Amino acid sequence: MTDMPQITLPDGESVPAYGQGTWHMGESRGRHADEVAALKLGIELGITLIDTAEMYGNGVAEEIVAEAMGGNRDELFIVSKVLPYNASRQGTIAACERSLKRLKTDRIDLYLLHWRGSHPFAETIAAFDRLQRDGKIRHHGVSNLDRSDMEEWVRAGGQAVASNQILYNLARRGPEYDLIPWCRDRKISIMAYSPIEQGRMLGHKALGEIARRRGATPAQVALAWLLRQDGMIVIPKATMQDHVRENLGALDLVLDQQDLADLDKAFPPPRGRSSLGML
Ligand SMILES: NC(=O)c1ccc[n+]([C@@H]2O[C@H](COP(=O)([O-])OP(=O)(O)OC[C@H]3O[C@@H](n4cnc5c(N)ncnc54)[C@H](OP(=O)(O)O)[C@@H]3O)[C@@H](O)[C@H]2O)c1
Repeated sequence: MTDMPQITLPDGESVPAYGQGTWHMGESRGRHADEVAALKLGIELGITLIDTAEMYGNGVAEEIVAEAMGGNRDELFIVSKVLPYNASRQGTIAACERSLKRLKTDRIDLYLLHWRGSHPFAETIAAFDRLQRDGKIRHHGVSNLDRSDMEEWVRAGGQAVASNQILYNLARRGPEYDLIPWCRDRKISIMAYSPIEQGRMLGHKALGEIARRRGATPAQVALAWLLRQDGMIVIPKATMQDHVRENLGALDLVLDQQDLADLDKAFPPPRGRSSLGML
């Protein structure tokens, strides 16, 4: 079992800084057993946070999470998301009920608005408040909201927002300019999604060089760079069991000043504002 680093949510609760993603799970019957096995392995190795969404595999990813978690529900921190077109007051509540059924649980630990749609934030927030009062979700958060959207979310009554899940990795450092500092000032956690850019960044020369001299792998370097940041939750997805094990090894890698300087050179921090990317 790995000693899992923790971050603190705005209400003081500690949650794991590292979890398993599930996007593209549930899309193919042929991969079903491997997907359940990968999540199960992660749980056995001590990865207790799982990120899913009603969108993934049209709900089947949530069923896969249920299958993998088995009798371990109380040890896990489950994150799921409502689709923007379901995010009206009644629609959010109905979507959450469906997710609870698929997840075979009575509560979701963190429930997010997946991205901004046409329903007013106030309606989604009212639904989140209701679900929280009824014990069906424990925390609420958002995803893919840029700084001005975050300000609007808070103004619309969403002061209790616990997390913003965003596209953030070495190759996507734009949010460092103002979104991440804005969230950090308010103790709102950041969940970094696509932390290895879905594998596309792993051939980068600088990552390879640092990995070689540190006896690590490019994926571990990319994940360790995220994990060293305050209030950051990192959620790589892996169906291959070797990937689950390899990625977890990032927790043992502490990057030094030279590594960080080399990474800044290869993946420069932002010099100005850019709009938030989304995959
Ligand atoms: N809120 C949002 O809008 C949003 C958007 C995107 C993602 N997310 C969440 O964030 C999670 C992670 O993001 P992601 O799935 O887009 O991308 P990711 O975690 O950056 O990359 C996943 C891909 O990389 C491969 N991989 C994993 N570890 C590897 C390794 N060590 N070496 C080589 N390849 C490796 C996986 O292959 P195998 O599966 O074959 O092992 C998979 O194809 C998602 O699963 C989802 O839960 C949220």
